[in-house]
Amino acid sequence: MKKEIEVALSGLKTEADCQAFHVAWLGKDGRITAAVQGLRNLPHEERAKAGQELNILKRETEASFFKRQEGIKQAAADAKLMNDKLVDITIPPIGEVKGSLHPITRVMREVEEAFASMGFIIEDGNEIATEDENFTFLNIPHSHPARDIQDTFWLSNGNVLRTHTTAMQNGLLQKYGPECRVLFPGRCYRNENLDASHDMAFFQVDGIMVNKDISIANLIYFMKTALSAVFKKDIAVRLRPGFFPFTEPSFELDASCAFCEAKGCSTCKQSGWIEFCGCGMIHPNVLRMANIDPEVYQGFAFGFGLTRLAMLKFGVSDIRVFNSGDVEKLKAVG
Ligand code: DAH
Repeated sequence: MKKEIEVALSGLKTEADCQAFHVAWLGKDGRITAAVQGLRNLPHEERAKAGQELNILKRETEASFFKRQEGIKQAAADAKLMNDKLVDITIPPIGEVKGSLHPITRVMREVEEAFASMGFIIEDGNEIATEDENFTFLNIPHSHPARDIQDTFWLSNGNVLRTHTTAMQNGLLQKYGPECRVLFPGRCYRNENLDASHDMAFFQVDGIMVNKDISIANLIYFMKTALSAVFKKDIAVRLRPGFFPFTEPSFELDASCAFCEAKGCSTCKQSGWIEFCGCGMIHPNVLRMANIDPEVYQGFAFGFGLTRLAMLKFGVSDIRVFNSGDVEKLKAVG
């Protein structure tokens, strides 16, 4: 049988051949199946050994068959693509180039590049989070008033549209363990009344770095380096005390205004500083809920609005432009 199978396998050329082979050998009336059923006619002493051999033959046949079938399918798909002359997306455009990247995509890529060059893994997660991911695992218990600050869209099954990218933190801490650097950008949702500075869908990015001996000094260094890369000039940062349930201590981080060399302008409201992001050292409870021992490991976390960054960078005063689908406006912005 083994010899016959080898010959039959090497003769497979089309998907129809594959189907016929499957019926003949592996299907419920196939020869291997029949042989397995035939085992019961063997004398008792021979049955176990023959059974074992048949099992191996079956597994090997399945493995080689599926591999071969996959190859045939792939070749057929490639051939179809080659023959498909209707749309050739590889032809360069003629005349004016119509498409362009969305301004948020552009800042997102710049931020990703800055952090990736410092060893951060970039992750994107689900826009739907469990209540625990969005709140409980971030040290925001059921009765905590911090839940009220975020006007949350609830789904009928009890899940939520994530109100912040921080919702991915617990899952990523568990995925990468206690020695990690991860950046996780994405779209978030809040039940806002729309105006020039509030939209119900917006983009944020969170980052974490965990290891032994991580301190606030690391946080300052990474934020300063990343922001300088994004704004393409030397940016100073300063921390003010803040509060977030998932960090302890928590800070508000200000960046020196990139638009007036910190001299004072309308963007920084004449202060020379722009309130940039929330950050802090990850709360021990949050580490514990991700099975990380806070006695051994520490980490910093930060989160900021990519939409807000795009507004700052491109001088956009109305947030609604970004989700408007108004190509002319978006082009003028980016
Ligand atoms: N999730 C917070 C928000 O949406 C921002 C934030 C603050 C994220 C501090 C963090 C952090 O990771 O450490 O307002």
